[in-house]
Amino acid sequence: MIPILRTVAEVRALARGWKQAGDSIGVVPTMGALHDGHLSLARRARAECGRVITTIFVNPKQFNNPEDLKKYPRSEEADAALLGTVPVDAIFAPEPEEVYPEGFITTVSVGGVAEPLEGRMRPGHFDGVATVVTKLFGMTLADRGYFGQKDWQQLQVVLRLTRDLNLPIEIVGCETIREGDGLAMSSRNVRLTAAGRRKAPVLYAAITAAADDIRAGQSDRMAIREAAEAMRHAGFDRVEYIELRDAATLMPSDDPARPRRMLAAAWLDGVRLIDNIPV
Ligand code: PAF
Repeated sequence: MIPILRTVAEVRALARGWKQAGDSIGVVPTMGALHDGHLSLARRARAECGRVITTIFVNPKQFNNPEDLKKYPRSEEADAALLGTVPVDAIFAPEPEEVYPEGFITTVSVGGVAEPLEGRMRPGHFDGVATVVTKLFGMTLADRGYFGQKDWQQLQVVLRLTRDLNLPIEIVGCETIREGDGLAMSSRNVRLTAAGRRKAPVLYAAITAAADDIRAGQSDRMAIREAAEAMRHAGFDRVEYIELRDAATLMPSDDPARPRRMLAAAWLDGVRLIDNIPV
């Protein structure tokens, strides 16, 4: 059985012991409701680090919509069983009061890369992510942190904050894991209806087609317009954005010589889906 730790004191004591024994520590921060995407991060950490901690914490500070926080799937027992298949060395699953005790008033706020796209659609979201990730790194004494590329902007925010704050941790960005039909794995996918689940892969198909068209010489604007149209036609309720951006700064980019990323967010069945691919 993998130990499930609830307090900072417990996880610190364990991590300190591991460090004294000469082990490196990899941390895989999650909000639970684990799927193969999370497990691939844990397996990578397992292969690269002496010890692996997966954190499970539904971070209230990164939800700008209270309904979304309430509906966020929670499944600790099933998560622990899945992590047993990796296996990781410990699960850190604190209560909100342990992470944000009374009187907590510090916020880690990242500018620039955190501002457009998700930052604009979800005010305060990245401050919440940056704050909790910084705390989790400190609590677990992690040498490496593992993050999925599915949340590309989040990955850039975490890279930026670790650089800017000189945190002694290496950030490892891992490939998006997809279902057989291309849908990016996400804890939110379980909230789709059966009909919505059938339509959802159109998000990936549409941005892939747009990226191919841009590489073949079509204008960015036209390719993006066609992708949005394909999604609406497939039954998506709303396309929030489809944008071609500089992969590192997330600023608009029309320079094909630099690495670029196409990022999209759209609503289907009352569920907000995001995805991104290199262009
Ligand atoms: O990607 C997530 O699940 C969350 O944003 C993270 C990194 C665990 C912080 O709460």
